[in-house]
Amino acid sequence: MSGHEPAAALFADRFGGEPDGLWRAPGRVNLIGEHTDYNDGFVLPFAIDRAAHVAVALREDRTVRIASTFEGGDTIETTLDDIADRRFSGWSAYPFGVVWAFGEAGTDLAAVRGFDLAVDSDVPVGAGLSSSAAIEMATAVALNDLWEVGADRAALARIGRRAENVAVGAPTGIMDQAASVFGEADAAVFLDCRTIEVEQVPLGFAAAGLALLVVDTKVEHAHATGGYRDRREACERAAKELGVPALRDVALTDLPDAEQRLDPVTFRRVRHIVTEDARVLRSVEALKEHHTAAFGALMYESHASMRDDFEISVPELDTVVEVARSRGAVGARMTGGGFGGSAIALLPADEADALAEAVVAAFAERGYREPASFRVVPAAGAGRLA
Ligand code: GLA
Repeated sequence: MSGHEPAAALFADRFGGEPDGLWRAPGRVNLIGEHTDYNDGFVLPFAIDRAAHVAVALREDRTVRIASTFEGGDTIETTLDDIADRRFSGWSAYPFGVVWAFGEAGTDLAAVRGFDLAVDSDVPVGAGLSSSAAIEMATAVALNDLWEVGADRAALARIGRRAENVAVGAPTGIMDQAASVFGEADAAVFLDCRTIEVEQVPLGFAAAGLALLVVDTKVEHAHATGGYRDRREACERAAKELGVPALRDVALTDLPDAEQRLDPVTFRRVRHIVTEDARVLRSVEALKEHHTAAFGALMYESHASMRDDFEISVPELDTVVEVARSRGAVGARMTGGGFGGSAIALLPADEADALAEAVVAAFAERGYREPASFRVVPAAGAGRLA
């Protein structure tokens, strides 16, 4: 493990010596299937080529120290006992939340050793690309190895989600953590969020001359507090009113009946979830048959459904999608929780730079903040590097 790896260099600087190992966990984009995860439905994200790296060494005592390359990333020191009692705050809640969640899932925190952990990440923060899930899952795979827990990937994804729910208080589903652990190069993760059954769907975008462009609108998303929680509550209320365990159990053919039974706003929320689940299933079929155009059309439909029925888009995200469509992109949609964050566009690789420029121009014309665009590639999921 050499000094040019930033997490290992930080480890040497703050803690001295060599770590026991180096682990990596990526962020994600979601190709399609939004707000379906906590409705027990289907999602189709992929792990991206941007990741959190952690360098970790076990200690002889019960002390836990963490350091990061993030701005203001001072070394934080605590004990396994304080973590077990959920005494943590700030960004440390991501790694410490994972430790706590291992305890909740059955690891005896009174019997394991403390550790030193240094983290570095190139997943942009606040762009809706799951930078927090990347830190959680990098911590989770490292401790799973070092403590010899033997948890499988689905169990690790659940531990990461519990950390997110408890640490941030964000009532998210399991998509981000599952994408981070189940990702594979050049493939999407088709996940049934009820059973945590996974199928990797080969994408072949690069071979087809296509690129996936992410446009970060720089509009801050407000998951923890605002709209996300409202939407989740609306979905849960609707499921109760319709007498089903989750909206996953409402079929497309049940929608006319649901419309009679629900108020108009709630009905539109339900229609988004039910049609979005169907779009994920159709997307998987289209991608398997290399019908990229059919998949792209589903991306645009998904965006319209989020804009009009689920009402989680913002004008900046709509602008990206409009510009992408007007320039003939195969498909485009907002990705992630909504209320800001990023949109994605699938298009011929040699047209990606021109789209990025056109979006910058359209944002300037409308008086929006300058967005940032970059390409992402489907990459391997979380694991040990050294
Ligand atoms: C966020 C959450 C996920 C998921 C998406 C919306 O990324 O963390 O669990 O609900 O929003 O699809």
